[in-house]
This record gives sequence, structure tokens and C-alpha cells, in this order.
Amino acid sequence: MTTYLDAIDAPQRNTGQIKLYSKADFDGMRAASQLTARCLDEVAKMVQPGLSTMEIDEFVYQFGKDNGAVPATLNYRGYPFSSCISLNHVVCHGFPSAKALRDGDILNVDITFIVDGWHGDSSRMYIAGQPKRAAERLVGLTYDCLMAGIAAVKPGNRIGAIGAAIQELAERERCSVVRDFCGHGLGRLFHDAPNILHYGRPNEGAEMRPGMIFTIEPMINLGKHHVKILRDGWTAVTRDRSLSAQYEHSVGVTEDGCEIFTTSPAGHTKPPYLTS
Ligand code: MF3
Ligand code: CO
Ligand code: CO
Repeated sequence: MTTYLDAIDAPQRNTGQIKLYSKADFDGMRAASQLTARCLDEVAKMVQPGLSTMEIDEFVYQFGKDNGAVPATLNYRGYPFSSCISLNHVVCHGFPSAKALRDGDILNVDITFIVDGWHGDSSRMYIAGQPKRAAERLVGLTYDCLMAGIAAVKPGNRIGAIGAAIQELAERERCSVVRDFCGHGLGRLFHDAPNILHYGRPNEGAEMRPGMIFTIEPMINLGKHHVKILRDGWTAVTRDRSLSAQYEHSVGVTEDGCEIFTTSPAGHTKPPYLTS
């Protein structure tokens, strides 16, 4: 049995209950999320062949510092960077590296800034130079999967409706949905109940209620859905080394649908947008 409780009465940890947030809490989430989105907009101007993903990570750290925000990933369960940067067949949690980007590389940059205790968690895909046709198709599809999931967010629907919409679209396009990672509740915590699966059936999971806050962050593979974790303990890659893409928004459930907290102030919504 799922239980819901006012966030104000909830302990600041994951008890498995679903926290319901107030209008003022939504304001806090919007502020943190918009800083994250602005930073992702800036990253779009940097990405090009020759740049290293470490340079992006250093930019993210400095951008946070300049704006009074802390990157939530830094030292989170031992994770050592300010962002996750996942290149080509890396599914998620990739380490920034000193290696230069090459023409046609696709990369996900995932940033979470903490502002006044609120977590704004979002990621987007970028393409260095000229994309290959298959890569561009995967990136566009993954964005559409995120937005199909978001379109299923409204009070009365179950959380399963989100994953069902994503899976249907991905598989219709002969791609696969990663099973091993999911979206998550967030707010004053980085990762909280409920889990948001990116596959499944519409009648599964807890019912959505106004005040819920969570991420949707589908990872879609050109090949099979299986992943493995590299020896660094973090980097997840596709087992078949096929390309993988991901988009992530933080959203809040409203009376009649949802608010996307992490929308791009620069209007970088549907890819491909200019990356340099
Ligand atoms: N930002 C990721 C997410 O979307 C989480 C990264 S956790 C880290 O939930 F430790 F890998 F940074
Ligand atoms: Co997330
Ligand atoms: Co994220």
C-alpha cells in the first residue's frame, strides 16, 4: 500500500512514502531547476570536436560556484565529479575525461544543482560536429520518449502510465528501454520514493497526486537494453556496445497535469539544436 504525506511532516529521508509538496516548495524546485537548465544551455555553446568532457565538468563546477549552487553529484556516494557525462555507448553515470570529443560523438550531460536545499536534476544530449544519421535518430527519439512520458503525468493516472508511454514509442521505433536505472522522487533529497520506471503498464504503480515531484529520465538504446558497469564502479555501458541516449526533466504534478521545472530558458527543447 502506497502512502502519501505532506512533505512538511516527512522525515528528510527515503521512507518509501511519497511526499506531497506545497506551492512554496514548487517555487524552490523551479529556482534550482532553472539554474541547472541555464547551465545546460551554456554547455550547448561549448560542445564541439576537440573539447574534452573534463572541460565541461570544470565549467559546471565553476558555474555552480558563481551562482551559489553545489553540484549534488560531487561526492554523492563517492561519485567524484560535478556532472555525469555519458558518451556514445555509455548509458549513464559516465566519468568526465581528458579525451577530446570527436566529430559525430553524442553525449549526455547530466547536472543536478542544489539551490536553497532544492535539487534541480536534468540532462540533455549534445552532438559534437556532424551527427551520423542513426545517432541523430536515436537522440530525437529519446527526447520524444521523455516528452511522451511527461504527457502521461496527471493526477489519477498511475506512475506506470509514464513508462508504458515511453516503452511503446521506443519499441515502435525498434529501440530498447534500459531497465536497470529509473527516474526518482526528489526535492530536498536527491533520490527519493517513488521509482519512476521507463517501461511497464499503465495500471501499475502508485496513483499520481498533485504535489508529487519526480524526474523522468529514459535511457534508450539502439540495440538491446542490457547494460554492464565498468570497473570504476559507476560507468554503465550497453552490453552490445550499441549507442545509448538519455534526456531528463524534473517535474511536479499539478491539479491538471504537470509543471516541467527544468525547461530551457534558451528554448533548447527539441533536438537537434545548435551546439556551437
Ligand atoms: N543525476 C543522476 C540522476 O539523474 C544521478 C547521478 S548520481 C551520481 O539521477 F552519483 F552518479 F552522480
Ligand atoms: Co535523476
Ligand atoms: Co540527472
